[in-house]
Amino acid sequence: MFEKQPEALRKKVQELSSTASVDPTGWFETLYQEAQGDTSQVPWAKLAPHPYLQDWLSQQAQLQEPTSALVIGCGLGDDAERLQVCGHRVRAFDVSPTAVDWCRQRFPQSEVQYKIADLLHLDPGWEPADFVFECRNIQALPLAVRSQAIQAIARLVAPQGTLLVVTRFRDNEGVPDGPPWALSESELAEFTRLGLTEINRVQFLQGDPVITQVRVEYRR
Ligand SMILES: C[S@@+](CC[C@H](N)C(=O)[O-])C[C@H]1O[C@@H](n2cnc3c(N)ncnc32)[C@H](O)[C@@H]1O
Repeated sequence: MFEKQPEALRKKVQELSSTASVDPTGWFETLYQEAQGDTSQVPWAKLAPHPYLQDWLSQQAQLQEPTSALVIGCGLGDDAERLQVCGHRVRAFDVSPTAVDWCRQRFPQSEVQYKIADLLHLDPGWEPADFVFECRNIQALPLAVRSQAIQAIARLVAPQGTLLVVTRFRDNEGVPDGPPWALSESELAEFTRLGLTEINRVQFLQGDPVITQVRVEYRR
């Protein structure tokens, strides 16, 4: 899934995220606040579950069993709501209070537990989950905090649990342009160094110039 952003929105993201080297996460709240409830001003808002999650779920018989699920950086909540439909006990968090409020307003009857939390400073009390969904968040964080983000995500995967990662991917270890800052093979390999096993990977090529994304499934 890749849509070219309107130029003005692309420039706005570039400007806001220019503070990311000193404050990796602060610009997200500014962007959500300045959107003032207009989803067209949130570049990643699709108002639908991510198609790579939908596709993956359609192939999973066992995930029809209710289990605990956790959505990292949940944005406007569509992926969390999709998992809730499967009957999972879903927790979802985002660093932006405005995004979390927005989720609660969009889905007032939801059973998803939406929380404000910073992946980079997570309370150790956060329980690991059987299914963790990480979609396009690590790529939105600068390289300097990437390892910290990956470690925090890996810790949230329960024994025998599954982690599904959807991210842009770069085929070299150079410094990428961004955001989004595509992940490299060695960055993804950190999940396996942290005790997860990669069990499936699908690559998606879209757009002109071509954007490479991957969906990687890990098991603890
Ligand atoms: C590029 S958006 C992706 C949103 C959603 N995962 C999706 O794919 O539509 C990144 C999201 O992660 C959130 N975020 C960024 N850094 C975070 C952090 N340290 N902890 C929790 N959420 C974070 C942002 O507020 C934003 O909602």
